[in-house]
Amino acid sequence: MCGITGYIGKKGNAIKTVMDGLVALEYRGYDSAGICYKDKDKLITIKEQGKIANLKSKLDFNVKSNLAIGHTRWATHGEPSKVNSHPHSSNKFTIVHNGIIENYMELKEELLKNGYSFKSTTDTEIAVAYIDYIYKKEKDILKTLNKVTNIFRGSYALGIICEDDLDSLYALRKTSPLIIARGKDENYIASDVPAILKYTNKYILLDDYEIAKITYQNIEIYDKDLNLINKDTLEFEGTYESSIKGGFEHFMLKEINEEPTVFENTINNYIDENFKNIPDLSKYKNIHIVACGSAYHVGLIGKHLIEKFAKIPVYVEIASEYRYKYNFYDKDTLVILVSQSGETADTLACLRLVKEKGIDTLSIVNVVGSSIARESKYVMYTKAGCEIAVATTKAYLSQLTVFAVITMYLTNKILKTEIEKIPSLLKNIINEDYKYLAEQIHNNKNIFFIGRGIDYYLCMEGSLKLKEISYINSVAYQAGELKHGTISLIDKETPVIAISTDKDLREKTISNIKEVKARGAKVIFITNEDIDGDFYDYKIIIPKLNEILQPILVIPTLQLLAYEVAKLNNCDIDKPRNLAKSVTVE
Ligand code: F6R
Repeated sequence: MCGITGYIGKKGNAIKTVMDGLVALEYRGYDSAGICYKDKDKLITIKEQGKIANLKSKLDFNVKSNLAIGHTRWATHGEPSKVNSHPHSSNKFTIVHNGIIENYMELKEELLKNGYSFKSTTDTEIAVAYIDYIYKKEKDILKTLNKVTNIFRGSYALGIICEDDLDSLYALRKTSPLIIARGKDENYIASDVPAILKYTNKYILLDDYEIAKITYQNIEIYDKDLNLINKDTLEFEGTYESSIKGGFEHFMLKEINEEPTVFENTINNYIDENFKNIPDLSKYKNIHIVACGSAYHVGLIGKHLIEKFAKIPVYVEIASEYRYKYNFYDKDTLVILVSQSGETADTLACLRLVKEKGIDTLSIVNVVGSSIARESKYVMYTKAGCEIAVATTKAYLSQLTVFAVITMYLTNKILKTEIEKIPSLLKNIINEDYKYLAEQIHNNKNIFFIGRGIDYYLCMEGSLKLKEISYINSVAYQAGELKHGTISLIDKETPVIAISTDKDLREKTISNIKEVKARGAKVIFITNEDIDGDFYDYKIIIPKLNEILQPILVIPTLQLLAYEVAKLNNCDIDKPRNLAKSVTVE
């Protein structure tokens, strides 16, 4: 989703710093980019559609500038185009904006009546004009910004420059994340930590309705009543190196290769000789799990494990559905929110909704200090580190790990010997060659994943991974359900990836595989036992583990298969089209 960077400092390298920040945020997904910088006493704005490289080619990096804001835009209001890209200006103000101003049409009408006109179709151009409109009355930047926070509805993180104070950079936020980072004689703003890691790892999290006034020496934060407040400066644990590719061709491959360490870091955070850092979850009699995308798929596996082993009923729902439907809670309900970014708009909205009803919440989150982590009653961090590739891999595996921990905790049994084996087993699985399998399927237009029970939930994630990065249509089906309609799509050479790790369901699953094989399907069979037969064309054997931990060993194969297919098809693996890393709009 959109990215914001901003810089104010003495060194005169504002353009380079802001552009470095935008490059570091490329992974979030975007379709245009722009920058506004101070050149002597003038503000210059340059924007381009498409890749950041297009914008870079238009910039003169020799210009000495000590103030700049930059933006990568992922279109929401108005098509991707130069005119719709940020920054947007109105008289004395120039802003970059993440999020959506929901009442922008209302504001536009008021502005039109007051003589404003617009070039773009964005809500951001309305926002900057409205700031200018209020400023004409207030004649004070802080009071103006404070006033608009009460008028703008929706979600926004704003970086703001005003021609009347070119020694300051301003920022404010509601719902969309924004950090203020500290350097020496220079300070920064950014929508995500990787943007500033090349320069500093010290940052302050801006909270809703707070306003920052930043000079090269000072960071002042004001609360919603315009009182100056003290905020903690945090230190990001990761390094700049952890946010770059480090010799791998793609971030996705690098992140899959980090999975053995991610598993160890996550499990060690919750288990040594005993359980630790885990809230008292045994008191809840029913659980809801709410999440989006891959995090939702993890939730389904969590449900399967908790219900089967801990015998607690679990209801799982996609966040964008959950927030608008009637849900059944009681005093014994725990709502678990799963999110890598901790900023997903729908998941955050569910958290707030549930909290209003007085229900306990636990978040399983990767980004430390993110909104979901901070606002939930309990948090269990996944220790995946910085995930850059849009398609989640190591964060998904770390979420699986946390649900395995929760299941072991609820059943009071640590699978110690198996846990110890996992890092080296993962390494072996990741080092296997999946290219030859990818070659068998990469030219197909439709691919099916089938499985039963927990294997079906793994199929859902395998199918999503393939779709999102290779653009091949794929669908996950419960193996027993195909014959109720979908089997009509199975044709000669249609690839079917069949997963069977659940021994109890194996015979049933194999019967279903035979049904598709009989119709000419090309079957890739993924299993945890070496089974011979003529019902598959290719077989992948995953080492067998206790069911609670087994999914952790299955998922890298599905991720790497998707990766190899996307690579053969020359897709933009780390930044698939139309997608964004952190979905901060509804
Ligand atoms: C798919 C993917 C998405 C995310 C989803 C939720 O590879 O990454 O489906 O899982 O957008 O994001 P988070 O986990 O940040 O809430």
